[in-house]
Amino acid sequence: MTKMMKNRNITNSLVIFLSFVVLTPCVLAQLRVGFYNTTCPSAEQIVKQVVQERFAKDSSITAALLRMHFHDCFVRGCDASILINSTSKKPSEKSAGPNLTVRGFEIIDEAKRRLEAACPSKVSCADIVTLATRDSVFLAGGPKYIVPTGRRDGLVSNPSEVNLPGPSLSVSAAFQSFQAKGLTLNEMVVLLGAHTVGFVHCNFFSDRLSNFQGSGSPDPTMDPALVRNLTSVCAKGSNPKTFLDQNTSSVFDNEFYHQIRLNRGVLQIDQELALDSSTSGFVSDFASKPVLFSQRFADTMIKMGKIEVLVGKAGEIRKNCGAFNNPKIRKVNSSSDGNRKINSSRKIRKKLPPSARKIKTTPQSTQKGKSTPRSQD
Ligand code: HEM
Repeated sequence: MTKMMKNRNITNSLVIFLSFVVLTPCVLAQLRVGFYNTTCPSAEQIVKQVVQERFAKDSSITAALLRMHFHDCFVRGCDASILINSTSKKPSEKSAGPNLTVRGFEIIDEAKRRLEAACPSKVSCADIVTLATRDSVFLAGGPKYIVPTGRRDGLVSNPSEVNLPGPSLSVSAAFQSFQAKGLTLNEMVVLLGAHTVGFVHCNFFSDRLSNFQGSGSPDPTMDPALVRNLTSVCAKGSNPKTFLDQNTSSVFDNEFYHQIRLNRGVLQIDQELALDSSTSGFVSDFASKPVLFSQRFADTMIKMGKIEVLVGKAGEIRKNCGAFNNPKIRKVNSSSDGNRKINSSRKIRKKLPPSARKIKTTPQSTQKGKSTPRSQD
C-alpha cells in the first residue's frame, strides 16, 4: 500500500469516527416510541391507570386534557410550559386569559407523583400530558394510537407568549396560527373535531345570540332553536357553560361535524368550518366517514405532539410539574431552552404576512366582520 493510500484510509476512518461522535447524539435525541422502556418501563401504564381512575369518576377529563395539550403545544411547543404555577413575583402561562379555564392540572400532578415514586426524575411532564391525553381520548370512544415520547420540560413560562387563536376568527385567520405550527388546513379541521367533547362558557359565544356584529339580531348562521336554548342557558348565573357538541357531548365521535352542518355550532369558528368554502368539503367528509375522522385525528394528534419539542439534553425533567426544578436560575429568556428541536413551522412563520403574527396584539383586526371584543380562547 502506498503512503498516499495509507493517509487516505486514516482520513476516511477519522471522518467516520467523527461523524459517529458528532451525529449520534443528534440521531438519538429524537422522540421515539417506547422511550421509557428501559428507564421507566411502567411509565405508560402508570399514566394510563391515573387517567382510567379519573375518567371513571368524571368523563369530562378527556376534554380538559385535549385542550390542555393544544394550549401547551401551541405556546413554545409541547414542553409543559402551561403547567408552571404563577407566583406573586412571576406570572406564568397559566395566568394568561386563554388559559384561565384550562382544567385537569391535578390529573397531571397525580401521574407525576406516582411516576416520581416509581422512577424519579425520568418521565417528563410534557410526555405525561401527551400520554394522558391519548389515553383519555380512547376512553371516551376515540381512536387508540401510539405516541412517541422523549419530550423534555421547558424552562420558560411567560404569559405574554400565550398567543392562541380566538373563537371569533375567520377560518383563514385561524388557519394562520395552525400553519405557523406546520399544520395544514385539513389538520386544523380535524383537530377542531376535539370540540366533540367538553364545555364552553357563555362569554365565548354570547355575542352570537343577540345584536351579532351590531346587526340587532342573532347570528343568522345559528339555528334559531339553538339561539333560544343558549339564550336561556346564558341567562342563568354568572357566565355559565354549555356543551360544544350539543348532541353527544361526552362521547368522542364525529357528531361535531354533523352538528355544524346543521347550523348548531356553538363557537363562531366551529360554525364557520361548515360554511367556509375552503373547509366545508373536509367537514362533510368527516361527517360522513367516522373511520376517516378517527384515523386522521390520531395522526394529527401525533403530529401536534411533536411541535417544537425539547429533546436530548435540552430543558429538564421536572420533579414537580407545577414548578421549575431550580426557579432561582431561570430567566425569562428564550435562549435558556438550549437545543429546542425546531420543525419547519418556524420557517413558515417568517414567511407569513404581518397579520398572521398579530393575532394576539390586534385580535379584532383579524376577525371576520365587526364583532364585539371578546377574550381569546
Ligand atoms: C381555532 C382554534 C380553536 C379555538 C378558537 C378554540 C376555542 C375554544 C373555546 C373558546 C373553548 C371554550 C373554553 C371555555 O369556555 O372554557 C374551547 C374549548 C375546548 N377546546 Fe378549543 N379551540 C380551538 C382549537 C382546539 C383544538 C386544536 C383542540 C384540541 C385538539 C381543542 C380542544 C378543546 C376542548 C376539548 C374544549 C373543551 C374544554 C373543557 O371542557 O374544559 N380546541 N375551545
